[in-house]
Order: sequence, then structure tokens, then C-alpha cells
Amino acid sequence: MKIGIDKINFFIPHLYVDMNKLALARNVEPAKFTIGIGQEKMAVAPITQDTVTLAANAAVEILTDEDKEKIDTVIFATESGIDHSKAAAIYVHRLLGLKHHARAFEIKEACYGATAAIQLAKGHIALHPDSKVLVLGSDISRYGLHSSGEVTQGAGAVAILISANPKIMTIEEPSVFHTEDIMDFWRPIYSDVAYVDGKFSNEKYISFFQTVWGQFKAETDMTLADFEAICFHMPYTKMGLKALKSVLDEGYNSDQERLLANYDVSKQYSKVVGNIYTGSLYLSLLSLLELNTDLDAGDRIGLYSYGSGAVGEFFSGIIQPGYRDFLQAEKHEKLLKERKELSIEEYEKIFQETLPTDGSALTLSIDEDPADICLAGIDRHMRQYINKNL
Ligand code: COA
Repeated sequence: MKIGIDKINFFIPHLYVDMNKLALARNVEPAKFTIGIGQEKMAVAPITQDTVTLAANAAVEILTDEDKEKIDTVIFATESGIDHSKAAAIYVHRLLGLKHHARAFEIKEACYGATAAIQLAKGHIALHPDSKVLVLGSDISRYGLHSSGEVTQGAGAVAILISANPKIMTIEEPSVFHTEDIMDFWRPIYSDVAYVDGKFSNEKYISFFQTVWGQFKAETDMTLADFEAICFHMPYTKMGLKALKSVLDEGYNSDQERLLANYDVSKQYSKVVGNIYTGSLYLSLLSLLELNTDLDAGDRIGLYSYGSGAVGEFFSGIIQPGYRDFLQAEKHEKLLKERKELSIEEYEKIFQETLPTDGSALTLSIDEDPADICLAGIDRHMRQYINKNL
């Protein structure tokens, strides 16, 4: 049975910071951020967007009534969740009007979580081919003002519908994965910003890629020639390129040129959004599928997922006939174009805004947030969500 991505969408908040201006404000040569790290803009979430609303906004645009009837599982992958107990999936389940006969839960393994969710979903569909699974990967990436990771922040979500006979991409067997207990990036429960050993995380990202790619080749006898493109988890757009380049000499010139050209297409969205953690690999996939109009049905795409801590996985998918009809390229172009630029002062102010933690009530103004689904306030420690269309 063919199982894979039936629908896929992303959502980002309507605010961004220009990396040239951030560099100047931090006394850094702008080329370091835009060329050395490879980021041009960074999405910034206003206080009216959190991981729940970002995910709900990503999903609401792609689900039909028929999908809603078939979804019996909602898996929410995040490393910047809003509650240590209640799953963000449950808020989204309600905001989307999904049927009660469904499982809804949250999972975590840094930026790898959405890949774990997709593989779980695949197993579920194999047992229940008539059902569909909604996978959400949603995060607000925070390293802190003036930190070395600041330039690699971002905010956004992906929503992915996994089903039998998918319209966009089947997910193939095998998948190769690797786990090691390392401290390259983590966020203790008392901290609202991540701790990171940047250089170490870069090294591990690349060495995990080489490990899972090597194992994948051994299990499948495939080579670089079998891939039209390889999409990478993109904490920043230079990162995946370093991993790709580390294996490129295995291929012929034509393989190298094709994979580098497609890498360039796959980084276009991340370059102007930043790191969205769990959704990042799938933002790269969307960038490739929507911006490379020369992809054909039957092309094989490799996917490298990495979550610090750490888990790495390499797997592959096959593009399906008519896949372009189910993408949202024009909507995404508009979403990116209509964003509002923040000054560095405005960004710093937003970064430091917090909700009350003493149980008091706060009503937020959602008029300036163009998103359909917003956080409208908090009362007695309970977040209040609104879908403006209901
Ligand atoms: N023009 C062009 N490039 C420049 C430059 C300039 N003026 N100044 C510096 N650079 C290049 C450096 O040569 C380097 O390139 P390289 O990585 O190819 O060697 C790059 O810009 C980054 O410079 P570096 O000094 O290493 O940056 P940093 O110490 O500030 O750290 C990160 C960069 C990415 C490690 C840091 O932002 C971070 O920790 N990010 C979060 C962690 C992360 O994303 N990990 C990834 C795995 S999940």
C-alpha cells in the first residue's frame, strides 16, 4: 500500500526582522548573517501567536470536511509547547472542529519530532488505511537577544496530512535512524531560551547525516544518482549545505550540479523565515516542491531529519502524479510578501513580552494580527483562543 503526504501547508506569523539590520544593531558584518549563515529575514511571532495558533492556522487552510471526518489521530510535535501536561494537539483539534472519535497527543525530540510523528502516522495508516493522520510541527525558536544563536531564530508551523494513496508524495521504506545521548542543544524546563553548543551541534548534525546516509546506501544499494533532490532540516540555510557537500564527491558532476541546484531551491523559504525547529525540514520540502516547477512524478526526494540531543533519520519519498494541484504556492508567495517588517527596537520589545503567570486575566488585541486563529488572552492560567471565522 502507498502511504505518504496527502496534503502539506505551512504558516508563519506576519512579522519579520531583516538580517542586515539585525547584524548592524549587533555590530556584526551583515555578510556574516546573510552569506556566512545564509539568513535574510527572520519570522517573529507577536504575543497573539503561539505554537497552538501557528499550527491551527497551518492546518485550517488545507482540511476539507471529508478530511476532518477521516482524521482519527492528531500528533503535535513541538519543542516550544505551552503546557507540560495538556497536549497542544487538543486545542488544535477543537479549533479545527475535528471529530471527537480521535486520538490527540504531543511528542518531543527537538527538531526531529515531526519526523517521528510522520513515521508513527505511517504505521497507523498501514493498520487503518481508511483513516488519515494530521501531523503538526510548530515552534517558536528562541536563543535570546544578543546571543550567537539569535540570527538562527524563527517562528512557524507545518501541517501534514498522512494517508493511503497520497496526492503529493509517498514515503518509502526503509528509513534509517540513529540516536546518541549528547548535549548539543537543549532547553531545561525553567528556561524560555535554548542552550546550545553551536559548533558541536554543527559537527553532530553532519556526522549523524553521514551515519544515516551510509546506512541507507548499505540497505538500499542506492547512490546520489537515485535522488532528484535531498531536503535537509535547516536550522540556518548554510547548515544543510555543509552536510550535503560532505558527501557530494561520491557523485558524478551531473549529480553534484542537480543536488546543489535543488538545495538552493529548497532553502528559499527557510532563508526568509528562519529556524522553525520541528517544521524546518518540511519547509525545505515545500520550498522545493513549490518553487521547482521542473520536478516530475516519480522523482525521488531524500529527507534528512535531525533533532539535537540527538536523533537523526534519513528517508525518501516519491513525487506523485498531479502533485502540484494540491500545493499552495501562490498563497505562500502572498503570505511571505505581505509581512510587516519590524525595527530592531520593535522586535526586542516583542521578544520580551510575556503573559501573566499569576493567574490574572489579560485580553490581547488581535485586530492587528491578520491570522484567522489567534491567542486572544489568558484567564486563570487558561489561554483563550479565537478563530475569527467562527
Ligand atoms: N562574510 C561572510 N561570511 C562570514 C563573515 C563575513 N563577513 N564572517 C563570518 N562568516 C562566516 C564564517 O566563516 C562561518 O562560516 P563557516 O561556518 O562556513 O565556517 C559562518 O559565517 C558563521 O560564523 P561563526 O563565527 O562560526 O559564527 P558564530 O560563532 O556566531 O556561530 C552558529 C554560528 C550557527 C553556530 C550560531 O548561530 C548557533 O549556535 N546557532 C544555533 C545552533 C544551530 O543552529 N545548530 C545547528 C544544528 S541543529
